[in-house]
Amino acid sequence: MRLLFGRVVNKLRRCWGGPLMPSVVDFAAKATEELRSVYRGRSADIFFANQGRTVHKWLHYFSIYDQLLEPYAGSNVRMLEIGVSKGGSLNLWRKFFGDKAVIFGIDIDPNCAVYDGEAAKVRIGSQDDPQFLTGVVAEMGGIDVVLDDGSHVSSHQRASFAVLFPLLEEGGLYIIEDMHTAYWPAYEGGLRRAGTAVEFLKAKIDDMHAHYQKHGMNTEDAMPDIESIQFFDSVAVVKKRKQRPRFHLQVPAREEQI
Ligand SMILES: C[S@@+](CC[C@H](N)C(=O)[O-])C[C@H]1O[C@@H](n2cnc3c(N)ncnc32)[C@H](O)[C@@H]1O
Repeated sequence: MRLLFGRVVNKLRRCWGGPLMPSVVDFAAKATEELRSVYRGRSADIFFANQGRTVHKWLHYFSIYDQLLEPYAGSNVRMLEIGVSKGGSLNLWRKFFGDKAVIFGIDIDPNCAVYDGEAAKVRIGSQDDPQFLTGVVAEMGGIDVVLDDGSHVSSHQRASFAVLFPLLEEGGLYIIEDMHTAYWPAYEGGLRRAGTAVEFLKAKIDDMHAHYQKHGMNTEDAMPDIESIQFFDSVAVVKKRKQRPRFHLQVPAREEQI
């Protein structure tokens, strides 16, 4: 609503030449020099240089991608992107990771099958179908990174996480993008509404601290193999690692203290 109001006000102001309302959230229609100079780095440079299949990204995601994913560049990382759309994103990841990476994309839209074999393998099915997901991961030979850019519907995000997080390799990353949809009713969202990706991951913070709680884990499907949960604007990342018992220690030992 605020966004719509801002757009209307800006339209009116443009007509009489007044100052524009600063907008924090907007569709940038063109890759201007200013945007190119602000958003730089491995993924942003590939994005701005794209002349091929269409790719649509929020620009502030690029520094997040670089922080999280640059360590995998040049490796044989196995990555699954949920949501293929016009195919450009898979091209971006191929350029980002290089030839050795195993990259798969899934989409519910059968038209996306035309992108199969271009930069990545594409499989058609729904992100809330456990059998389909496990089949894709089996074909990939395991999985190190999941990027959920699919329907952005809360129940779908939870369904994919429930299947794919347990299949992630040790040290793997589970990334959910466009988390702002957790606040939008059309995506089963709403502020503090139970079951949104934001609320679901807040509960995972409790699970991560299960060993400090008297009554164990808080959520039904608790998975304690969580090393960290990171929130950026609209992007969340859960890192998988088997957790060891926690110890605290004083050195030197008490009897050796001076
Ligand atoms: C935001 S677009 C993906 C954009 C793409 N990753 C990019 O960066 O250019 C979302 C895609 O998710 C797909 N999608 C919607 N519901 C889905 C579902 N239940 N399972 C898998 N894909 C779904 C849509 O068909 C659409 O192509």
